[in-house]
Amino acid sequence: MNAAIRSAVRTALSRGHRVYGSLEGYKGIIEGNFVELKLRSVANIIHRGGTILKTSRCPEFFEEEKRKEAYKNLKDKNIDLLLALGGDGTLKGLEGFHKEYSDIAAVAVPCTIDNDFPSTDLCIGYQTAVQTAVEAIDRIRDTASSHQRTFIIEVMGHKSPDLAYAVALAAGAESVVDLSEEETLNHCIRQVKESINKGKMSSLIVVLEQKGESESAAMIVKKRIAQNLKIDCRAAVLGHIQRGGSPLANDRILASELSYKAILQLEDKKSGLVGFQDGAVNFIPMGAFKEQRKDYDQSKKILETLAN
Ligand code: F6P
Repeated sequence: MNAAIRSAVRTALSRGHRVYGSLEGYKGIIEGNFVELKLRSVANIIHRGGTILKTSRCPEFFEEEKRKEAYKNLKDKNIDLLLALGGDGTLKGLEGFHKEYSDIAAVAVPCTIDNDFPSTDLCIGYQTAVQTAVEAIDRIRDTASSHQRTFIIEVMGHKSPDLAYAVALAAGAESVVDLSEEETLNHCIRQVKESINKGKMSSLIVVLEQKGESESAAMIVKKRIAQNLKIDCRAAVLGHIQRGGSPLANDRILASELSYKAILQLEDKKSGLVGFQDGAVNFIPMGAFKEQRKDYDQSKKILETLAN
C-alpha cells in the first residue's frame, strides 16, 4: 500500500494537484482527519509494508448520515478527486458514496491479499503474501519431513481461496481444504490416506481460514484427519505475518502503475477502478465491474498430480 500511496502522491503533485491523505481510511474522511502530503512525505516508504496513513475497518461508512459528514469534510477541504486504496469493502463503500455524491470523482485501487477484487487479476499485496506464506511453509516442511508428520497450515484469504491455492502450489503442498466446500476435506483425507499407503509419512495441507468460528479452520481439519486416519498431525495458523513485511518487487511495480493510472483517470473526472488484466493496466468505470469467476479445478488437478 505504501508504494501505491507514494505513486499516487507523486503523480498528482507532478501534475499540479494538492494532495491530502485521510488517516485510517474512510474513518479519517468522516472525522475530517486529513494530512497534507508532499513529495518528501512519501520518501523512503516504497519498501515498507502496511500503510503510513494507517487503516481501519469502518462500517460507519455504510451509514448514509456518516457519508454525508464525509462529503461535507471533503468539500470543506476543496477535495474533488478521491482515490481509495483497499479491498472489496473499500470498493463497496466507494461505489455507495459515488452514487450519492457524483460530483467527487472517485477511483479505487485494489489492495488486498485476498485477491478478490472485481475486474483485476491481481491486487496489491497478494503476491507478497503468497511469498511470505510459502517461506513459512518451507520452514515447517523441515519439521514435517524430519518428524514424519502431517501439517495443516492455515492461510488468510477471507472467503477467497486464491491465496490458499497459490500458496499450496508454490509450497508443494498436497491439497487445499476450504471448509465451505465439504468435498475438499473428504478429498484431502482420502489423499493423505493414499500417501500413507504408498509409504509417504509426511504431508502438507493448506487450509483457508474460516471467519467467525471459535475454532481455527486448521484445528478443525487437524481433528478430522486425526480421527479418520489415526495419525499424529499438527496445525499451524500463519495469521497476520501474511500481511506484513517488505513488498516484493512485483507488488511495488503493480502499485506504482495502478496508482499512476488512477490519478490520470481522476484528473479526467472519471470514476471507477483500476485493475491489471491480461498483462495490462486498465480502467473500468463504475457500474461496469466484472466479478472474477475463478475456477480452481485446474489447480486442484495439478496439486493432485504432483502430490505423490
Ligand atoms: O480481508 C483481508 C484480510 O487480510 C483477510 O484475509 C483476513 O481474514 C483479514 O483481512 C484479517 O483482518 P483483521 O486483522 O481485521 O482480522
